[in-house]
Amino acid sequence: MLEPVGSVAVRTFEARRAGAPGEVRSLSVYDEELPDGQFYDPDAEYEPDPEYAATLAPDAARQRRERVGPTGRPLPYFPIPGPLNEHGPAQIVAMCNQKGGVGKTTSTINLGAALAEYGRRVLLVDFDPQGALSVGLGVNPMELDLTVYNLLMERGMAADEVLLKTAVPGMDLLPSNIDLSAAEVQLVSEVARESTLQRALKPLLPDYDYIIIDCQPSLGLLTVNALTAAHRVIVPLECEFFALRGVALLTETIEKVRERLNSELQLDGILATMYDSRTVHSREVLARVVEAFDDHVYHTVIGRTVRFPETTVAGEPITTYASNSVGAAAYRQLAREVLARCHAE
Ligand SMILES: Nc1ncnc2c1ncn2[C@@H]1O[C@H](COP(=O)(O)OP(=O)(O)O)[C@@H](O)[C@H]1O
Ligand SMILES: [Mg+2]
Repeated sequence: MLEPVGSVAVRTFEARRAGAPGEVRSLSVYDEELPDGQFYDPDAEYEPDPEYAATLAPDAARQRRERVGPTGRPLPYFPIPGPLNEHGPAQIVAMCNQKGGVGKTTSTINLGAALAEYGRRVLLVDFDPQGALSVGLGVNPMELDLTVYNLLMERGMAADEVLLKTAVPGMDLLPSNIDLSAAEVQLVSEVARESTLQRALKPLLPDYDYIIIDCQPSLGLLTVNALTAAHRVIVPLECEFFALRGVALLTETIEKVRERLNSELQLDGILATMYDSRTVHSREVLARVVEAFDDHVYHTVIGRTVRFPETTVAGEPITTYASNSVGAAAYRQLAREVLARCHAE
């Protein structure tokens, strides 16, 4: 039954699916692999032994309701989403922060893969001329004939000519490479230059449940295009000292795009990444982020682990590369939280 020893509790996936109280055990090592068939369940950590709970039921129920997550707020339960009978129209999410190296590309790949695991149809858009998203999914950007650039700049170019299937069932990619950097310059002279991506994505909306745009690290015209196309923005923030620097400029930009170009746009959430619960520093930064953004901060926090750089080399999401890792579990929880937020509206 319960062994509430370490920091991470797991239980068997099958037991969870059957609704039975699963086998729960603890891992003390942060990056430890979970055995096959088991997955990280942050809820299990707080679930009292049923026999024990029966002896103090009201109190246990209260504790369960009021359990506190890493952001210092009560942690809600994010249900496992049910299957969909039909797909679309897509919610478009821009993964955006003008700072580089904060986890935009990593979050795009792994949130996308986790949503696809839950049966959502997902399209990832590589909107950074560096092509890191494409590389992270095993695509060599130098070998591509057609990319997002062609979709943006060539009238009559159909999206399915550019689309690539990824190794994750239900997840497709609009790849990109250095060609896209020319678009930034060429778009300047176009009519309605800010809504070029929005127009290009429109025919794809019925085919997907989520379209996630991996933005480049700048607030230039490409990023404004992504924000104009999007319904919601996710801002990954690295749990480091200067995390909040520049975020005011980003929220101002989001505000301007909402006022002038896209009234539907909303800041869905701030995602804390590269969090290390063992350091006071990480915890302090996270506390400051919550102070500044309150309910906009996702309850889900992505821990720092070498598993993520490894997945880039492997060219696949962590959900398949290390399916039982804590990192994979974190992105699955994020997917459930994002879905819960969308349904709450
Ligand atoms: N949670 C994490 N823990 C450790 N390393 C991470 C984590 N998330 C991302 N990384 C690594 O940090 C680097 C930058 O991440 P990336 O997602 O490319 O950021 P961005 O797209 O914002 O520039 C990459 O090498 C990536 O593998
Ligand atoms: Mg990137």
